[in-house]
Amino acid sequence: MLASGMLLVAVLACLSIMIIMSVWRQRRLLRKMPPGPTPLPFLGNFLELDTEKLYDSLLKIKEQYGPVFTIHLGPHPVVVLWGYDAVKAALMDQAEEFSGRGEQAFFDWFFKGYGVVFSSGERAKQLRRFSIATLRDFGFGKRGIEERIIEETSFLIQAFRDTDGACIDPTFFMSRTVSNVISSLVFGDRFEYDNEEFLSLLGMMMRSFQFTATSAGQLYDMFHSVMRYMPGPQQQIIKYTQELEEFMIRKVKQNQSTLNLNSPWNFIDSVLIHMQEEKKDLSSEFHMKNLVMTSLSLFFAGSETVSSTLRYGFLLLMKHPDVEAKVHKEIERVIGRNRQPQYEDRLKMPYTEAVINEIQRFSNFAPLGIPRRITKNTTFRGFFLPKGTEVFPILGSLMTDPEFFPGPKDFNPQHFLDDKGQLKKNAAFLPFSTGKRICLGDGLAKMELFLFLTTILQNFRFKFPKRLEDIDESPKPLGFTRIIPNYTMSFLPI
Ligand code: HEM
Ligand SMILES: *[C@@H]1O[C@H](CO)[C@@H](O)[C@H](O)[C@H]1NC(C)=O
Ligand SMILES: *[C@@H]1O[C@H](CO)[C@@H](O)[C@H](O)[C@H]1NC(C)=O
Repeated sequence: MLASGMLLVAVLACLSIMIIMSVWRQRRLLRKMPPGPTPLPFLGNFLELDTEKLYDSLLKIKEQYGPVFTIHLGPHPVVVLWGYDAVKAALMDQAEEFSGRGEQAFFDWFFKGYGVVFSSGERAKQLRRFSIATLRDFGFGKRGIEERIIEETSFLIQAFRDTDGACIDPTFFMSRTVSNVISSLVFGDRFEYDNEEFLSLLGMMMRSFQFTATSAGQLYDMFHSVMRYMPGPQQQIIKYTQELEEFMIRKVKQNQSTLNLNSPWNFIDSVLIHMQEEKKDLSSEFHMKNLVMTSLSLFFAGSETVSSTLRYGFLLLMKHPDVEAKVHKEIERVIGRNRQPQYEDRLKMPYTEAVINEIQRFSNFAPLGIPRRITKNTTFRGFFLPKGTEVFPILGSLMTDPEFFPGPKDFNPQHFLDDKGQLKKNAAFLPFSTGKRICLGDGLAKMELFLFLTTILQNFRFKFPKRLEDIDESPKPLGFTRIIPNYTMSFLPI
């Protein structure tokens, strides 16, 4: 009895010492990290962060602590990089150290570190290299990506014509069209616009995306270890993600049964062939889980981004009819009515290019960037960042910096034009981020934005059903991606 009592005391004493040591060690570590508001246990800086306005809360903290600071999202410390200098110094000048992928609790839970977007280290390197090479193969292969986009625009134009100038919500029109470009890369084929399977896929993706931008989504990010088990909207979203994974597994199995080793027809085929080649290599990253998650990643990364940007562009052009008129004029002058726009045409269309850049700048689709992670113990600006530290490169702070963009709150294509009307580069314009994990779809995205927007404007004028003053073009600045306001409009044939 006495012996076991003493044992218990000894164990408790050891435990307390260990806890004190670890808290002490963490304190000491935190002191070497960038400064920031003092965190509460478990809650972190929850009280300083408004989940409805994360960007604005961070701006306030930055004003107190400078462009590089530490905040605690729940129990996790995150280093925040604010402004061009800090983001460049990290993502470009110390590219390797900042090349890990950080956590986004919701997507992390779904992807579990697999697939090209949410992996780190050797896995990320292999999948990224392979994805870029394969997308390039398909882009310049028989069914060149430009041809594919142009083919898809004709379906979109027809769908808009069929509305007969009625007032419609363009959301689904755009997301079907843009997703079909990814579909033809990943599956080798487009879906009909009324295909039930396709529509349910899009619905699930869109709702998951929107969830991450809601207040509940932000809370989930901070307290996922608890919320995962609680009732709430996250349960429905968790169910969607399981369905999405099952959908993709079904698709891959269909292809596995018809695979021709000598002629890959799509992204899935190419990965399947690579899996065969590396079958004996136990450390190979090419296996079913990475195939499914990489294919889904491409859908997630490449659909909502482009279609929301375009949808937001329509709204901005309606609000600024003088800008819309100038784009119409440039299209008339360079392309005319009798042929479809080609990507090459952009070289002669600086105004339209400037408008597209400005739409991207203004929509600021990933204001907080996509989280990164430190890959090895690193010194940055005199601070110590231990391996594994999460980093938010705040891309929105670049796009709204008045030093780079005078009058950043105005929609103004002149931000990208010189006084001769030629396109002007701007170093702080990094909508696709920069460094080792820069968006690998940036080329595709730019091509899509140009071809979709010019083809639509070649065929239609936009009409807003209400007065111009009633257009609320301010995006709701929530969370990791922005929610573009919902609205209806008409497409009037020219
Ligand atoms: C307007 C459209 C788009 C925007 C604004 C955008 C933006 C971004 C941003 C900010 C990142 C994070 C990069 C980083 O961590 O530094 C990213 C990553 C990524 N994007 Fe995009 N993107 C767009 C379109 C696309 C498209 C069409 C694809 C399709 C292939 C795509 C595929 C990816 C992938 C695979 C990654 C992850 C790369 C990695 O982790 O190594 N994106 N994108
Ligand atoms: C793979 O599956 C898609 C549809 O899921 C199909 O269109 C394509 O032809 C298939 N590829 C091969 C090589 O059978
Ligand atoms: C990185 O830093 C941590 C904390 O100071 C230390 O415990 C660890 O040993 C370091 N790792 C390497 C590889 O230097």
